[in-house]
Amino acid sequence: MLTLKKNTASLLADATAKLFGEGLLSADEIFEMLEYPPDKSMGDIALPCFRLSKSLRKAPPVIASALAAEISCDEFSEVNAMGGYLNFRISPTAFATRVVSDIRAAGEKYGSPMCGEGKTVILDYSSPNVAKPFHIGHLGTTVIGHSLKLLHQFAGYNCVGINYLGDWGTQFGKLIVAYKKWGGREQVEAGGVDELVSLYVKINNAIKDEEDASVAGMPEGSRKHSALADESRAEFAKLEHGDEENLALWRWFVDVSLKEYEKTYKLLGIDFDSYLGESFYTDKMPAQVEKLRNMGLLEIDDGASIVNLDKWNMPVCLILKSDGTTLYPTRDIAAAVYRKGEYKFDKAIYVTSAAQSLHFAQWFKVVELMGYDWYDQLVHVPYGTVSIGGAKLATRTGNVILLRDLFDEAIKRVYEITREKHPDEDECRAISEKVGVGAIIFYYLSNNRIRDINFVMEDALCFDGNTGPYAQYTYARTCSILEKAGECGEMTDAPLTEVEFELAKVLSIFPERIKSAIAEYEPSVVTRYILDLCAAFNRFYHDCKIAACEDKDLRSSRLALTAATSRVLKTALGLICMQTPEKI
Ligand code: ARG
Repeated sequence: MLTLKKNTASLLADATAKLFGEGLLSADEIFEMLEYPPDKSMGDIALPCFRLSKSLRKAPPVIASALAAEISCDEFSEVNAMGGYLNFRISPTAFATRVVSDIRAAGEKYGSPMCGEGKTVILDYSSPNVAKPFHIGHLGTTVIGHSLKLLHQFAGYNCVGINYLGDWGTQFGKLIVAYKKWGGREQVEAGGVDELVSLYVKINNAIKDEEDASVAGMPEGSRKHSALADESRAEFAKLEHGDEENLALWRWFVDVSLKEYEKTYKLLGIDFDSYLGESFYTDKMPAQVEKLRNMGLLEIDDGASIVNLDKWNMPVCLILKSDGTTLYPTRDIAAAVYRKGEYKFDKAIYVTSAAQSLHFAQWFKVVELMGYDWYDQLVHVPYGTVSIGGAKLATRTGNVILLRDLFDEAIKRVYEITREKHPDEDECRAISEKVGVGAIIFYYLSNNRIRDINFVMEDALCFDGNTGPYAQYTYARTCSILEKAGECGEMTDAPLTEVEFELAKVLSIFPERIKSAIAEYEPSVVTRYILDLCAAFNRFYHDCKIAACEDKDLRSSRLALTAATSRVLKTALGLICMQTPEKI
């Protein structure tokens, strides 16, 4: 549609120049005015001429009929003036032929806006905190982040995916104390990150108990105290000063956790170009703090060093605590400066929950105040919260749903549903994995990212709803039709009906959708597109004989449309991290 819309705009620009004089309206301006009428009986594309009447100084109906008489193009079967509107009806066969030939020519690149050539985008996403659970709250950053990477890659950007592991901080002091008190090498080796998380939960509870006991019977507002918390701070200080034993423990904890995360990433088909976590930036922060101080941007507030952001209606940005230790924003600033030097990015995208929006707005502003002229290349992409409804999932570690458990549950359920159809156990397992994981991704990415969602496993897995399994099933259907027919067909002159035309229109709109998905940092645009395409294809499948069609030419065109659908579905599903099994 985009191509046709562009061509239409340039035809119209030529016609207006000829009829009303040169230089009044450009093709780009006309392009912006063109609409897809909601009522198909009007036509397929429309130009509301009242938008032209100001520049052309004529009444809209006059403009519409003059243009209608002037325009001619093979791809239009009719050009009509109706009141102030100029309506274009597209010739289905000519249009579908061009769309299918565009798709064949571009192949796996069909739909790419090719706007990223020679540019670098870095994406900071997933980034779990070591020894804290990798839970359902991380689903958003992981799948939105990776889809955005795939979309940018598709557009030709050079992309760097960064997992900014939360591998530093006071939680390691606590973990070291807990491990020395209650842990053991074998338990951690056997239990992996779960064991670390339960040690972490245990010490947090113990600290809370000590704190509560310390103020029991004391007047309101008395200072709480915990010996375990003191010990934890001391162990973290030792770690920061390079204590060998603690450093070795820390490295081991990080390794154990990473191994576990990698299992989940593998299931999702995700990999990262860099795992440089928070710890890497420890020695890179002093230079930035120094710069802030030299520029007079730091103020002392209750012993802490802060940047005042009153003028921008934001609370202060904390740079150093009163004890001189650094904070989350300090680390992000140092990391951004380092990454700019390392990757010379044109854009740096950070995907986190909306709860961190203020944090990003604050430190982006500080980067600007520091005079870094690339501050406007930093982009925060927030998403809403996820809660769980319906499915019963074990909460082994505290009150959270682990991401891995969520996927395991989905895989198990798909396996139960598909087991009888698949005599081959291994094949069934492989398919269940692709469909189960895909169901969760698709369900999650069906909503605008900023919306809060309530996750209902039953809905995600429903084979005949607007779900991942349904989309994958539709793709598998295209594959099996083509395989049975033994050919991919060619477009012919056979007249096409409305359903085929609708399918071609949906196929033709793919490049426009990809463009908006990238511009809005919104993978759900792709998900919704997939649903539109599946609906159009399934209508076509139900109404038309494809491989069994008696008319040779019509059969060939229909197979060509099926092959084009198959190609576009595969690309689109791939862009939202979905696998595309050819059989289900
Ligand atoms: N580790 C953080 C968390 O789990 C997310 C990090 C996001 N990236 C960043 N550069 N701050 O909340």
